[in-house]
Amino acid sequence: MIQSLTIPRPDDWHLHLRDGAMLQAVAPETARHFARAIIMPNLVPPVVTGAQAEAYRARIRTATPDSFTPLMTLYLTEATDPADVVAAHRAGIITAVKLYPAGATTNSASGVRDFDRVRAVLDAMAEAGIPLLTHGEVTDPEIDIFDREAVFIDRVLDPIRRATPGLRVVMEHITTADAVAYVQSQPENLGATITTHHLVINRNHILVGGIKPHYYCLPVAKRETHRVALVQAATSGDARFFLGTDSAPHTDDAKESACGCAGCFTATNTLSILAQVFEEAGALDRLAGFTSRNGPAFYRLPENTTTLTLQKSDTPVSYPAKIESGAGPVTVFDPGFPLYWRILD
Ligand code: NCD
Ligand code: ZN
Repeated sequence: MIQSLTIPRPDDWHLHLRDGAMLQAVAPETARHFARAIIMPNLVPPVVTGAQAEAYRARIRTATPDSFTPLMTLYLTEATDPADVVAAHRAGIITAVKLYPAGATTNSASGVRDFDRVRAVLDAMAEAGIPLLTHGEVTDPEIDIFDREAVFIDRVLDPIRRATPGLRVVMEHITTADAVAYVQSQPENLGATITTHHLVINRNHILVGGIKPHYYCLPVAKRETHRVALVQAATSGDARFFLGTDSAPHTDDAKESACGCAGCFTATNTLSILAQVFEEAGALDRLAGFTSRNGPAFYRLPENTTTLTLQKSDTPVSYPAKIESGAGPVTVFDPGFPLYWRILD
């Protein structure tokens, strides 16, 4: 039985760090174990220009050690200037561009309504090799929330990729067997991130035995068959699937509310949870691919040369239940089972 595992230092390909006091509180939780992270731009107001991304990156750097590299993204709007995107990428300020359908999730009001209006930006991105990261849910009120990802693939993603075939796309935080099958059916210029929590919970965890606001995120967890498909994809060794935690802190009062915010905060215990999920799937030898190799390969970045060691202990590893954020406590995701993999810092 494997008791110790050393892997190249992981990266998080989808992370919310927020700003101000919250940034100061949560950034160390990620920087402790991860070398790089793709930083989501859905601040209020969103990060829409290269100059804003550069300023946000500087704020993140003051909150993190030099060993951590934030990889910045721009929030795509119908007013995004293709020249600004390309210039910011060429200057090494941004790594990717994020597409939020308007209204799909937290702070997405400035997102895209008419996808034809961003065609010129997408063409410029394809030309420059800049990946597009998609929040893959339609916002049509007639589409059931549990179907919004599958419908997004048909109505938005596939048409975009057909119109701009050179575009490299990452489907972010996939939650369905439909998304897994779509990625598997496509060429290598399509990848997908999978979160820690979607490998662990299904919709029953949110709704059975009382509503659990800390399990509510977007895209919402689906039925068990989808969770199983995600575990199979993540542990399959297929390099198109890689870790994006979507760790998304909200204070407890914002989560435990009559209109609770979407987002699970998993930065603190993500790697312990993942080690357990992969061990249970008999795929511990594939953990490093998912956390540390497949992402850099997709993004055409080098693998980290530093390493991280995970050690299995006989007694459960304890993590804080909450992180103090300055604006109030943030609850750490509870996987619902004891964790035995300790991360040696
Ligand atoms: C994210 C957030 O809180 O910013 N919430 C979430 O449920 N995942 C937004 C997002 O990535 O959709
Ligand atoms: Zn997110």
